Formats: sequence, C-alpha cells, structure tokens
Amino acid sequence: MSKLLVTGGEPLEGEVKIQGAKNSVLPILAATVLNPGVSVIQNCPRIRDVTASLEILRHLGCRAEQTGDTVTIDATQLVRHDVPDELMREMRSSVIFLGAILARLGEAVMCMPGGCELGPRPIDLHLASIRKMGGEIRETSEGLNCSAGAGLKGCELSLAIPSVGVTENIMLAACGAQGLTIITNAAREPEIVDLQRLLCSMGADVQGAGSSVITITGCRPLHDTTYRVMADRIVAATYLSAGAAAGGRVTVSGIDYRHLSTVTSVLSEAGCAVRSGNDFITLVREGPLRSVRPIRTAPYPGFPTDAQAPVMAALCVSQGATMFVENIFERRYGHVDELRRMGADISVEGRVALIYGIPKLHGAAVVSPDLRGGTALVVAALAAEGESTVTGLHHIDRGHQDIEGDLGALGGQIRRAE
Ligand code: UD1
Repeated sequence: MSKLLVTGGEPLEGEVKIQGAKNSVLPILAATVLNPGVSVIQNCPRIRDVTASLEILRHLGCRAEQTGDTVTIDATQLVRHDVPDELMREMRSSVIFLGAILARLGEAVMCMPGGCELGPRPIDLHLASIRKMGGEIRETSEGLNCSAGAGLKGCELSLAIPSVGVTENIMLAACGAQGLTIITNAAREPEIVDLQRLLCSMGADVQGAGSSVITITGCRPLHDTTYRVMADRIVAATYLSAGAAAGGRVTVSGIDYRHLSTVTSVLSEAGCAVRSGNDFITLVREGPLRSVRPIRTAPYPGFPTDAQAPVMAALCVSQGATMFVENIFERRYGHVDELRRMGADISVEGRVALIYGIPKLHGAAVVSPDLRGGTALVVAALAAEGESTVTGLHHIDRGHQDIEGDLGALGGQIRRAE
C-alpha cells in the first residue's frame, strides 16, 4: 500500500507549474469521439482518470497514445458503443461519454454510475436532457441502453440546476444533433469554456460558454485538431492553501488567476498577501491566519466545492471560527474526521461545518476519504508539527499527477513510500 510521508511545521517557499485540468481533460477526451479523425490533446495530466478515459477510448476502437503530456486519439474507426462496467465504476464522470457516443454512433450502452463518496450523484438530468433531444433510453437492471432512433434533434433545454456534467453532455450530444440546441441555466465553469474551444477547434459551432446560455448548431463536419488543455484551478487552489496553512511564499504558475478569484479573496481575508499576474499567483503568509466570513460553495463563479476541503484544512490553524456551508454535494465532509485526528476542532451539522481555529495541528496517520479530501489532509500535514502518513492515495492519484513532486518543489518535506 502506498503512502505519503509528510513532515510538517516548516514554511513553504518556491514555485510550481500547474498541471492540465482534470475536469477539462475528461470531457475533452470524450469529445474526441465526435471527430472521425485524429485529435491531439496537449497539457494532458498523467492521472488515473485520464488512464481510465484512454481505456474507454481504446475499448470503443480508437487508437489512443500518451507521450508525456500529449495524447493522440485516432477515432476514425469505432467498433463498439459500450463503456465497460469497471471503467464506469472507476470513474463516475464517464457518463460524459454518453452524449459523445450517442452523437457519433446513434447507440450507447453503459451501466449506472454508482453512488459516491460525496453522497448520491444522480444522473437524472443527463438522461432527461438526452431524452428531450430524441434519445430513447431504457433503464435495465444492468444499466442504460440508449438509442438515438432517427437521430438526435436540437431543442431548447433549461437546466433545473447548472450542472457541469449535464451541460457538457448536452454540448457533446448537440454536436451530432440536427439543428439548433439552446442550453439555458448552463454551468459557467471555465472547463465548459475549454470544452467549447476544443469543439470549435474541430469545426463545431458552439457559442456562449462562460455565460448561462449556450447554443450549438449540430452536424457540422468536424476535422482534426491540436488543442491545449487549460491548467487545473483546483490543483492551484490546493497548493495556495498549502502555502496559507504552512506559511511562507508559494507561487503557482501557468494558470489564469481570474479562475481563482473566490479562493484568493478568502485567503487574502485570512491574512495572506496575494499578488496575481497574467499567468501566476503568489501567496505570502507571514503572520497567523485569521478566521473569515462564512464560505458557501456555489456553482462558478461562486466558491468551488472542490476547494472547500483544502481551504478548510488551512483554516484549521487560524485565530477565530469560520463557517463553511456545502451547497453542491450532500456528503462532502469526509475529511473532517481525519483532520480531527490531527487535532483540528471542527463540528459538522448537515451541510454546515464550523472550524474553531487552533494554533497548531499535530502529525497523525490519516486516510484519504476522496480526492479533494485527501489533498486537504496533505495540506494539513504540511502545517502540522511532526510526521503524518496519508494513505488512500488512489483517490489523490485520480487528480494529481505528482503531488509529492509539486509540493517538494515548494520545499515541503513529503515523499511517497510503499
Ligand atoms: C463536476 C466536477 C466536480 C465538481 C462538480 C461541481 C468533473 C469531472 N467533475 O462534477 O469535480 O465538484 O462539477 O463543481 O468535471 N445533479 C443531479 N442530477 C444530475 C446531475 C447532477 O441532481 O443528473 C446534482 C449533483 O448531485 C450535484 C449538483 O447537481 O448536487 C452539481 O453536480 P454537477 O455540476 O453535475 O457535478 P459533476 O459534473 O458531477
């Protein structure tokens, strides 16, 4: 079993270039199914979820190769339209392949993605949207049998909640649908803009991403493309949280600072000096952290649910009390019990967590409950006196290509051991 050994209590100092975004690259890899040719995707992180996506693509009949951070996918000839159950379970966001496979092949088969460590993750809105576009979906005990019948048809879809995955799935399906699709109350996350850019680079007609209305004119002929994935704003938020927790001076580079404004404004309010340039953010923390006004997670441009855990880890060592309200996922406080093992004083009631700041955490043996919860434990361990061991690394490896290398570059005492 792999574990991270972290010796904390020392300030961080240094710069790290941020990897490509997990939440961008997954829908982008699914989108390559639409192009009956070659797509070259650059700045592709070497993470487990990418490996799983490439396995899905190969299973469908694509040639898919990764060299360094470049992935080449040749989707000229697809031979299957199903996603294997173990890959659906390995990566629940693989439901994103539904829209793309259906648009390209007119049929798709997959099992239901299970519940998850963040609470139930229903796919009702994905299915309702595909049905509204004319897709027929049979839900069986084994999973979903989907058929586009005489072809998907563009329509107006108003989302009950601005779901990221649903917005992406519709965008992909709509590229293969006859006529115009209009998504209202669409998710506005930067990753949606990245997906639109990739689709347009293939010749698709997609407009409006970044606003709450996206329009797609389907059935445009698509062509080969080379596309560079945006940097991962959540990985950047995690390393900035590490700088806030441990103190010192941390620079994250290769990122768009505007994507992180809600996170950096919280860290500034907590007493860190934050300076942003075109493609970097530098955070300096010299004095103690202070508590901040309530942090409520919300769809973009609100405070990201994915940054809740690492920012909470930082605020465990602060003066005063901070309230978190988790509005996106029902069970996203799996890291709280583990942070308590390190001495954190946190009470949770439903969606609300109250963090009573303490001067110091202490090292402990902790287990990652999920991806972001796991990285929060690493953040806390860097601030804690003494040594911590973090296990459950399969969660962290889903989203980070080299967390120990990155934090080591910032001066963190962290290494992986078997
Ligand atoms: C994506 C991100 C994830 C992030 C989340 C919210 C990827 C691969 N993952 O997940 O890291 O935490 O956005 O920013 O991009 N919902 C339904 N029915 C549905 C679909 C969603 O009720 O059919 C609910 C979810 O349970 C959740 C809310 O909508 O409460 C938002 O989820 P959604 O935006 O869809 O998140 P994901 O796309 O799964």
